[in-house]
Amino acid sequence: MIEARQLTKRYAGRTAVDAISFHVEKGEIVGFLGPNGAGKSTTLRMLTCFLSASGGSAKVAGYDIYGDSIEVRRRVGYMPENVPLYPDMRVDEYLRFRARIKGLGWRATRSAVGEAMDVCSLAGVEKKIIATLSKGYKQRVGLADALVNKPDLLILDEPTNGLDPNQIRQSRELIKRLGERHTILISTHILSEVEMTCGRVIIIDRGQIRASDSPRNLIRRLRKPGSVILERQGGVEPAKTQLAAVAGVKEVSVIHERDGWTSFAIATDPLHDAREDLFALVRRENWNIRELASRAASLEDAFVDLLQQQPPATTAASTSGPEETSDEPDTAGE
Ligand SMILES: Nc1ncnc2c1ncn2[C@@H]1O[C@H](COP(=O)(O)OP(=O)(O)OP(=O)(O)O)[C@@H](O)[C@H]1O
Ligand SMILES: [Mg+2]
Repeated sequence: MIEARQLTKRYAGRTAVDAISFHVEKGEIVGFLGPNGAGKSTTLRMLTCFLSASGGSAKVAGYDIYGDSIEVRRRVGYMPENVPLYPDMRVDEYLRFRARIKGLGWRATRSAVGEAMDVCSLAGVEKKIIATLSKGYKQRVGLADALVNKPDLLILDEPTNGLDPNQIRQSRELIKRLGERHTILISTHILSEVEMTCGRVIIIDRGQIRASDSPRNLIRRLRKPGSVILERQGGVEPAKTQLAAVAGVKEVSVIHERDGWTSFAIATDPLHDAREDLFALVRRENWNIRELASRAASLEDAFVDLLQQQPPATTAASTSGPEETSDEPDTAGE
């Protein structure tokens, strides 16, 4: 659905996107992540033909972004970073206007606008002037605009930016639902959202791709293990040795020992929840415990960890940034 090769953008001599290559297959929901200024919006704008590239090439929905930009735009629903709505128009009027611009006939426009408003839960505000809507509703109108012509591909640039936690949760459900019908490339800073909705994540930093993999594999690559806290009545030994022998446990350290209680930090395999095995030990040994809690590694941990690592010197110096993919096949959730 997207095939980018050596795509590059230079602004006044400064390289914002540095020869990146990646692909998005039909039906995928791909998260496009990176710190501020990484080049996410620039890339998305090139793919949607709103910005011309300085080098490289890309095909979107089978069409070249240079040669067939009209066909590309027709097949892509794009929600830019700052949704450019017409503030003086009413919601339904605006969406009808947008659908007509996208080439829908009168009859198709009516049903398409109704459907898009349904999907984006805009019932009740269709007659409101856009300027009077709250930020969350404006975002929904922007999303309804992006999908009104039922594009194969949705490209969403921070669609949840500025929303409250409740709205973020709702939008997560919405994106999951949209993913059943559309291929989606979504840029966002809300990593819990990505972890739950995206099958694959592309991480870009300073204009170069640093990783392209499933959230699960990225967490697996994390250098820091997951951890469990266990507090039991009694001293350090032999409990420490017994805990270290439990399956999936990598290391046991003592957090504190006071008033006859000892608290252990138990480092485990990043993806292994060792709590059940630990509890089996607790039962077997008849321990008195007052805490057993896990802190599983998240995509956020993986993201921070990855960006702290220095980029490989060869990639940083060269002008090409080949897509980096883990060797590990991801079989989870497929
Ligand atoms: N029109 C422009 N003229 C000059 N430089 C620009 C322009 N637009 C973006 N840049 C620069 O290009 C780089 C990438 O910007 P971009 O907006 O793509 O980042 P981003 O990953 O979307 O960041 P954010 O998370 O903040 O949205 C930044 O250094 C930015 O300052
Ligand atoms: Mg951006």
